[in-house]
Amino acid sequence: MLQTQDLTIRFGGHVAVNAVSCRFEPGTLTAIVGPNGAGKTTYFNLISGQLKASAGTVHLDGREISAMSASARTRAGLGRAFQLTNLFPNLSVLENVRLAVQASQDGPHRRGLNLWSIWSDHTALTKRAHEILEAVSMSERQNAPVSSLPHGDQRKIEVALLMALDPLVYMFDEPTAGMSHDEAPVILDLIRALKKDKTKTILLVEHKMDVVRELADRIIVLHNGALVADGEPAEVIASPVVQEAYLGASPQNASAQDVAPTQPGLPPQGGRSEQP
Ligand SMILES: Nc1ncnc2c1ncn2[C@@H]1O[C@H](COP(=O)(O)OP(=O)(O)OP(=O)(O)O)[C@@H](O)[C@H]1O
Ligand SMILES: [Mg+2]
Repeated sequence: MLQTQDLTIRFGGHVAVNAVSCRFEPGTLTAIVGPNGAGKTTYFNLISGQLKASAGTVHLDGREISAMSASARTRAGLGRAFQLTNLFPNLSVLENVRLAVQASQDGPHRRGLNLWSIWSDHTALTKRAHEILEAVSMSERQNAPVSSLPHGDQRKIEVALLMALDPLVYMFDEPTAGMSHDEAPVILDLIRALKKDKTKTILLVEHKMDVVRELADRIIVLHNGALVADGEPAEVIASPVVQEAYLGASPQNASAQDVAPTQPGLPPQGGRSEQP
């Protein structure tokens, strides 16, 4: 189980994430929604260790990981989609995915120079890399250098690398952003398939409410850095705070109490809203 307690970060005088306490259970996909600038990506960065919290803690399976570096948190089981800058641009798609699979396992170097073991490892890693490329519909491009891929394919490779790591917690931040209409379903199918593994905890930041409605078991809403709603998708979507943020409905009576009270009241609207 992943848990944040009073997680907070201040940039100068601005509190981008404000005392967010939340638990995320295995077998659950939680959608994180809220207007632009609400603090969703910053919250992810605090969990994954890209940013250091001003206050509060992060625990994974009962162990405090707040003081760990981002790479130590990855080893502990937190899976944040790679930025493509972490890839080897001149290596092929297959080689990049195979390296990620290898990084997630004990490599042959741990067992000394046993040629049989190196060969069988290589075969198993390649097989796993092929399976993952199949899952993201990228088998046909396996020999292309990563740098040559169009944007949509690069996003698929980011997800492939995340799968290669086989983390306990999958964190997707707008995974289909910038993808064409016919590319996005590949990623959504993958997330749907991941959901079947009840040992995985999935966090999804997503603006498209139809996607959220279909995939989420639970929705939390961030607003001006604070957690203002948390509950069943249908109730949260119907709540004034979400209606106001996403559909431009009147903010009158907008209150987190309508969903699950986590804050005494809704802070004033600060973010720009985006139509789904
Ligand atoms: N490194 C930083 N330095 C200063 N301010 C920052 C930094 N990172 C984020 N912020 C500010 O924190 C707030 C939250 O930003 P964040 O990117 O987390 O929002 P978001 O909910 O992910 O928005 P979007 O839906 O547009 O992706 C914004 O006001 C942003 O300008
Ligand atoms: Mg963001």
